Amino acid sequence: MTKFEDIKGFIFDLDGVITDTAVFHTQAWHQIADEVGVQWNVQLGDALKGISRMDSLELILKHGNKETLFTEAEKLSLATTKNNNYLMLVQQMTSANILPGITDFLADLQSHNYQLALASASKNSPLVLEKLGLSSFFQKAVNPATLKHGKPNPEIFSRGAELLNLNPAQCIGVEDAAVGVESINAANETSIGIGDPEILADANINFEDTTRLTLANIKFSMNR
Ligand code: BG6
Ligand code: MG
Repeated sequence: MTKFEDIKGFIFDLDGVITDTAVFHTQAWHQIADEVGVQWNVQLGDALKGISRMDSLELILKHGNKETLFTEAEKLSLATTKNNNYLMLVQQMTSANILPGITDFLADLQSHNYQLALASASKNSPLVLEKLGLSSFFQKAVNPATLKHGKPNPEIFSRGAELLNLNPAQCIGVEDAAVGVESINAANETSIGIGDPEILADANINFEDTTRLTLANIKFSMNR
């Protein structure tokens, strides 16, 4: 594994890492699944993490063998309904929705002169960061609208390293989704998975939750 001392930058996923919007996305998609008569389960919810809006809808329809039953216009309308429901949940967000330890970790990274970038698949990420009061930490953010491929393709995390003018080997990516960890690994960066170690088995480093995300713990995990 890369040495801790070689790391110069951190590239963050947003939903489920910085804030628990993963729960809001899941809630809003569950509503759509009910609407179109697709049976929901926890595995489907996990499989949607990190996946773009339209790809998420396709996955849900496929899960219920309904992928051919909707026109493009109907799919767009379903995705818009989901997003409106999601945005209603986001409207109530404040800095209280930042996951435990994240603000201290970001401040610590900044004071140690690490470079920071955001690599979220969400088109709502600028709004969410603003609601949380964290926009100033992320001057560099990959615009998901400019990507050809979604996670698990490495494009988004490779682009993050480019924005920071760093080699991938100098970057750590932080993710809560299995496809996100795959994306970081495929970009040849060091991956930190936050959450269930079984789901995130491919991560170079795993922390059960964000309270474990500290420079000391990362250094320990990389240099042992
Ligand atoms: C990812 C979330 O960050 O963004 C997914 O994990 C979501 O659940 C995706 O579908 C796209 O988000 P949005 O806000 O553009 O619909
Ligand atoms: Mg996520």
